[in-house]
Amino acid sequence: MIPDTLNTLLSRRSVKFVQAPGPTDEQLDLILRAAMRAPDHGAVRPWRFALVRGADVPALVDVAVRAGEAAGTPLPEAKAANGRKWLSRVPLVIAIACVLDHDGRIPDHERMLATGTAVGNMLNAAHALGLGAFWSTGVGTYIDGVGEALGFDALDYRFMGYLSIGTPIDPVEAVERPDYRDFVSEWHAA
Ligand SMILES: Cc1cc2nc3c(=O)[nH]c(=O)nc-3n(C[C@H](O)[C@H](O)[C@H](O)COP(=O)(O)O)c2cc1C
Repeated sequence: MIPDTLNTLLSRRSVKFVQAPGPTDEQLDLILRAAMRAPDHGAVRPWRFALVRGADVPALVDVAVRAGEAAGTPLPEAKAANGRKWLSRVPLVIAIACVLDHDGRIPDHERMLATGTAVGNMLNAAHALGLGAFWSTGVGTYIDGVGEALGFDALDYRFMGYLSIGTPIDPVEAVERPDYRDFVSEWHAA
């Protein structure tokens, strides 16, 4: 018999198009507690999250547009329009950042892996709660100044994008995954 928790993992998929209601306070608490369960070398807890709700969500596009203009790397018009359309219905975005290594103890790539795992836990938790969630870096994540505008200066943090969470707009259909055997090999000592 497959445990329920494993069935949840085995059925997760990302859901981009969501609407209100977003997670309740209790659901958000569970989602963030799941993030805190991520494996984390040195217990540095490198993940940082900024909660963006309601009318502030589509304003994230304005942040990217302004930063793009200032940096001389403007966000393409179509990308801004698509971003606004999408985010205007999203009730909650969790902006994701990773605290960088300044003491040479745990390297940045391990910190980013831990942060990514924390986000994975949040994706799984949202799915377990019947919510839709989607990690994206599309709306200006890599434009200089965007992370900073959200409270994550580039010296101390790597800004890693946005986790959108809400109620799926369309029915969430199951999707097939590739066979893991194509990704796995056996290793033997010579
Ligand atoms: C770090 C990261 C950034 C991503 N950025 C985007 C993005 O900007 N746009 C996009 O369409 N998908 C992006 N994705 C992929 C989606 O989150 C999602 O994984 C993909 O649509 C496949 O859906 P699945 O998770 O159900 O396999 C990103 C995924 C990761 C891990």
